[in-house]
Amino acid sequence: MSILSGKNILLGITAGIAAYKTASLVRLFIKAGANVKVVMTPASKDFITPLTLSTLSKNPVYSSFTNEDDDNAMWNNHVDLGLWADLFIVAPATANTLSKMANGTCDNLLMATYLSAKCPVYFAPAMDLDMYKHQSTKQSFDTLQSYGNVMIPATSGELASGLVGEGRMAEPEDIVAFIENHILGTLPLHGKKVLLTAGPTYEAIDPVRFIGNHSSGKMGFEIAKAAANLGAEVILISGPSHQRVTHSFINVIRVTSAQEMYDEVHKHFDLVDIAILSAAVADYRPKNIAKQKIKKKESTFSIELEKTKDILKSLGEVKSHQFLVGFALETNNELEHAKGKLESKNLDLIVLNSLNDKGAGFGGSTNKVTFITASHDVIAHELKSKSEVAQDLMQQILKQTHA
Ligand code: CTP
Repeated sequence: MSILSGKNILLGITAGIAAYKTASLVRLFIKAGANVKVVMTPASKDFITPLTLSTLSKNPVYSSFTNEDDDNAMWNNHVDLGLWADLFIVAPATANTLSKMANGTCDNLLMATYLSAKCPVYFAPAMDLDMYKHQSTKQSFDTLQSYGNVMIPATSGELASGLVGEGRMAEPEDIVAFIENHILGTLPLHGKKVLLTAGPTYEAIDPVRFIGNHSSGKMGFEIAKAAANLGAEVILISGPSHQRVTHSFINVIRVTSAQEMYDEVHKHFDLVDIAILSAAVADYRPKNIAKQKIKKKESTFSIELEKTKDILKSLGEVKSHQFLVGFALETNNELEHAKGKLESKNLDLIVLNSLNDKGAGFGGSTNKVTFITASHDVIAHELKSKSEVAQDLMQQILKQTHA
């Protein structure tokens, strides 16, 4: 899956012959899983029709402030378009539009949208070789880059004029690859590996029964997504859970028991940079697992239990460069217990949730957490969605690791 999957991409098309290639560009963005909207300068419609682009993007194409042909003319809101976009790419970007972008000239919908957009902006110039070399064009490139806009350089080759030289818009495949690589390169956890545990564990009593708990795994899966969205490669070791995730950076390994989780975690720990253990691992398991289904005979029945291995503690004992995060679910003396676990398990950070807080803990879609760092800084958060909690946690880890 591409890093562009699920992203809202606004494509601005200006009046260069390379505009005909934007049909392919829209298709490639859609194939990468992005949502695409197109805004065109009026003159660019001579090079490619809005109908082609609206068909490929499955969205209306915008080129003026109002839809003149429509009796119930609607205002095309450039601010909404700008806010909708996760990224804005102007391709092809003519010398004229680049100069307007550099100077803040706002004489069409594309320019108004550019000036309103708060997202990252990419531009792919396309023009004849002498225009590309001109001092004023170079000035536009420099000014736009000084604004933080990202240039996707033109390539050399045969130009529409018949001349050969620099000025050809980068090919659509290369534009997509450029943007993907650029986004990845700017992500703070690019090149880092994160190991995560999530969900409950089931400890078998006999072939049909087990001891388990109510953990849904939702918190762990949200952390996996938050880490992957920061560019990390995530190994998610999950106990039995209905949670699903499809992300090219997340490798889900399903396990059942605490022992299986322990074995998988230790297989990967050496190679990771960050380990976050959010699973609700069973502390005890039946000492003997009956080979056959246990029949009901006696009026009372006991199962002898033995301790499972504490996975988190075992990592604290062997960790070298890894940043180790644990969870603590407490019902009383919460801070004191969490600090105790932080010390005894040799952690860099512990996430405390108290069952006394409404909306915290198992099952639901919200959580209320307090972070406690190795230097005993206590950072309390409000009740938030588990997705927001996951993002807060990753930000806290980035802060502590200076990634
Ligand atoms: N944990 C683990 N392996 C276990 C038990 C717990 O890795 N066998 C991890 C959990 O994933 C969590 C942390 O340890 O990150 C704390 O779990 P918790 O059950 O709150 O604490 P315990 O250490 O088991 O202590 P207690 O049950 O006495 O509160």
